[in-house]
Amino acid sequence: MTAALTVNSARKAFGGLIAVNDVSFEVRRGELLGLIGPNGSGKTTMLNLISGALKPTSGEIMLEGRRISGLPAHAIARQGVARTFQLVRVLPSLDAEQNVMAGAVFGHVRSWGADARKTSRALLDRVGLGARAHMPVSAMTYIDQKRVELARALAANPRILLLDEWLAGLNPSELKIGISLVDELRREGRTIIMVEHVMDAIRSLCDRCVVMSSGRTIAQGGVEETLSDPEVVRAYLGDEDA
Ligand SMILES: Nc1ncnc2c1ncn2[C@@H]1O[C@H](COP(=O)(O)OP(=O)(O)O)[C@@H](O)[C@H]1O
Ligand SMILES: [Mg+2]
Repeated sequence: MTAALTVNSARKAFGGLIAVNDVSFEVRRGELLGLIGPNGSGKTTMLNLISGALKPTSGEIMLEGRRISGLPAHAIARQGVARTFQLVRVLPSLDAEQNVMAGAVFGHVRSWGADARKTSRALLDRVGLGARAHMPVSAMTYIDQKRVELARALAANPRILLLDEWLAGLNPSELKIGISLVDELRREGRTIIMVEHVMDAIRSLCDRCVVMSSGRTIAQGGVEETLSDPEVVRAYLGDEDA
């Protein structure tokens, strides 16, 4: 069966720095893949290569067997890649509903007008913002802006959803809600790549992990097996020492 996403020797150089160094992995349909590694290991850059925010220096990326690397970001979004950002990016002057509707208009399964509004309302309910659909996003807390961003990403009904530290910065009770929300997405069969530092979340949610360190993949496979890999343990200890 064709993988949902295939990353084949993806490389990204910034001048002399190779942020992503010939990384290869697959994401199966309906799988939640954890992309983990110490700070600066290239995780966000890898997501940027998939979403088209950056073009790979070499290598290729395929969505459902069709090459997407090299296409502009908007075309990749159309093909069915949606994401959230490590540092939230919302349209601050618009309200929550308008932000989510923007996702419905520009994404993979496009809708507008009454349909887009209906989808947006349902998604805002789902992320716990049903009562605040008309609040300007600029007046919302950071966490609520993250919820808006997730709803916006889902509005396009993407083939693959990329979450860049979506759980970061949540307090313990918000974290519990956040984890169960991601778990619901997983159980409805969505294909997800989750960049995450919260180990509890990785253990409870991920089917498999890919571990990066200094731009390279140092381990991939089952969650427990990769987390206990000596090289992975070393990479994380090195990060804590830094
Ligand atoms: N646009 C850029 N220009 C130059 N260097 C960058 C750029 N984006 C990321 N980097 C560098 O690439 C490396 C990987 O960064 P990043 O992908 O953000 O890591 P992570 O998300 O794993 O913390 C870091 O050394 C970072 O400074
Ligand atoms: Mg990052």
